[in-house]
Amino acid sequence: MILVTGGTGLVGSHLLYHLLLKNDSVRAIHQKNSNLNAVKRVFQFYGGDSDRLFNNIRWVEAGLNDIPELEKAFEDITFVYHCAAIVSFDSKDYKKMREVNIYGTTNIVNLCISQKVTKLCFVSSVAAIENGVEGELMDETDNWNNSTDKSGYAITKYGAEMEVWRASQEGIPVVIVNPGVILGSGFLHKGSGALFSNVQKGLKFYTEGVTGFIGVQDVVKIMIQLMESATINQRFVLVSENLSYREVLFMIADALGKQRPKVRINKFISNCIWRLEFVRSKITLSSPLLTKYTAKSALSNHPYTANKIKRVLNFDFEPIKNCIETVANNMNDSLSEQN
Ligand SMILES: NC(=O)c1ccc[n+]([C@@H]2O[C@H](COP(=O)([O-])OP(=O)(O)OC[C@H]3O[C@@H](n4cnc5c(N)ncnc54)[C@H](OP(=O)(O)O)[C@@H]3O)[C@@H](O)[C@H]2O)c1
Repeated sequence: MILVTGGTGLVGSHLLYHLLLKNDSVRAIHQKNSNLNAVKRVFQFYGGDSDRLFNNIRWVEAGLNDIPELEKAFEDITFVYHCAAIVSFDSKDYKKMREVNIYGTTNIVNLCISQKVTKLCFVSSVAAIENGVEGELMDETDNWNNSTDKSGYAITKYGAEMEVWRASQEGIPVVIVNPGVILGSGFLHKGSGALFSNVQKGLKFYTEGVTGFIGVQDVVKIMIQLMESATINQRFVLVSENLSYREVLFMIADALGKQRPKVRINKFISNCIWRLEFVRSKITLSSPLLTKYTAKSALSNHPYTANKIKRVLNFDFEPIKNCIETVANNMNDSLSEQN
């Protein structure tokens, strides 16, 4: 049986759908207050037999830091997809991210070792790849450098990767994927989904920073293919295209039939905004709308190459324009259902 962590999130929910479509037996952990309806909604975007497939998920309540709960979830498990993590660029979440992203992965790894699972797939991020010179293509060989300035999220994804390599040293076959920004339907209030909801609400600003983007369906198809392949103990950058935020926001606006953002934000303005937001968030005890690291990533030019995965799996990525159109169509359908 397969175990999926993070099944109530963007990657995990699409992964659950694709595993169940293959008739795999799947157990998924969720936290006490997780929104399982959000997962059902993701399944419904695929149409067809989605309700029956959703009902085949064997849900088990377990947090990544609750070992007795995790032990129950691991009974009879052979393959593990570890997608759960906290994704945040707010410095006040750093301690929690260490607990969940690093020590939660320690728990997953320890159980993989004690249960002698057949294979573990871990979803890391390009954040755990060293940012080299601006504009230069980066890949899996760009190793971490402790002396450069990193976000708490990047530090904890790298720390989690170290735990996964420990599993490989203990004889557990592992694969790690390092996706760029993942675009997909279902979670519009957070992460990359906020790009869509903000454009829908009339976002006016854009930046010229460049990074790698990938559709969620490509991410989960690659994870499944890697788990079913003989490939072990390697990591793979997953990026379909390197694009500027301007290009992506314009594509989203066109797909949603909204006005393109008109005002370009440069480094100086963005540096002022994140500092003001920092002060505002401390005074109001709320989350900043822009942090030092979101501002940095929105303005820097960090492209990636996914040549390794293309070569190993002979994989063709879906163009980002198609991924955006799928999310926008699902979003427009949901909005017309509500009216
Ligand atoms: N989204 C991106 O653009 C992107 C890009 C690169 C890499 N990644 C990586 O991809 C993975 C999945 O990201 P995502 O976008 O799907 O994130 P997401 O939508 O925020 O989902 C996170 C998942 O982790 C679960 N989780 C959080 N804390 C947990 C805990 N203490 N115990 C058990 N489960 C917990 C959440 O459960 P609840 O529903 O209960 O909160 C949720 O299912 C993450 O490892 C992330 O670092 C994401």
